[in-house]
Amino acid sequence: MVEFRLPRHARPVKGKHFALEASAQSKADIISFAVYRYDPDAEDNPRYDSYEVDSKACGPMVLDALLYIKDQIDSTLTFRRSCREGVCGSCAMNIDGRNTLACIKASADVNKKTITVNPLPHMGVVKDLVVDLSHAYEQLKTVEPWLKNESPPPARERRQSESERAKLDGLYECILCFCCTTSCPSYWWNSDRYLGPASLLQAARWLKDSRDQYTEERLDKLNDSFKLYRCHTIMNCAQACPKHLNPAKAIAEIKKDIIAKA
Ligand code: SF4
Ligand code: F3S
Ligand code: FES
Repeated sequence: MVEFRLPRHARPVKGKHFALEASAQSKADIISFAVYRYDPDAEDNPRYDSYEVDSKACGPMVLDALLYIKDQIDSTLTFRRSCREGVCGSCAMNIDGRNTLACIKASADVNKKTITVNPLPHMGVVKDLVVDLSHAYEQLKTVEPWLKNESPPPARERRQSESERAKLDGLYECILCFCCTTSCPSYWWNSDRYLGPASLLQAARWLKDSRDQYTEERLDKLNDSFKLYRCHTIMNCAQACPKHLNPAKAIAEIKKDIIAKA
């Protein structure tokens, strides 16, 4: 059987342990976190540092605990966050084995003694929980996720009927967190050429927009055995999406539109 192992220097090792001071009220209030740490400027292997957090001293979400760790225990911990409301997508990470948003994932929902926090899988790690999304954003750019319409703009706005607008439901809500793309095994193997579910959902969003005049050209561009057809309906994307969107369905719709156009 083929065995895939990380090279020796990339295998995470056990790191530091930050125990809670005796002032913590009760053992039941303590939550333990094992957090992936990696500093590209150091020669060391990545490691899992463990932190004990007093759940009574911080908010209920995993992001609250990470902020508590950074503010009170270890200021070197690095992660992205902004809105803390599930809107900006910047706190995407892998918590207890699932890609999600740390700001809407309650620590109490992870039914484990220790909550493991990793960066999003497959992407290069910039530092700790921050991954490099440059390539994913370059791919997104190729689907031109904006309105393309050559006609002169009307005095007020380009209008849509209610039913035309409704076609964007399930698509416009995407916050570009890339939880889906980084959970897709097909993307793991072919990320150089497969666009991945986040970019394809964005492509579908503009294909469905009644105001866009470039539907044919967009479909022609996507009709490619790697860019689009590397989706093998694995469905991890739909399971991972913290906004409950279904990129797999959006991809299937693009494929259907390409067939209908032929
Ligand atoms: Fe994130 Fe969902 Fe958009 Fe994927 S489809 S980028 S998981 S919001
Ligand atoms: Fe990947 Fe989702 Fe397709 S997990 S293979 S993009 S259905
Ligand atoms: Fe914005 Fe979590 S901080 S989605």
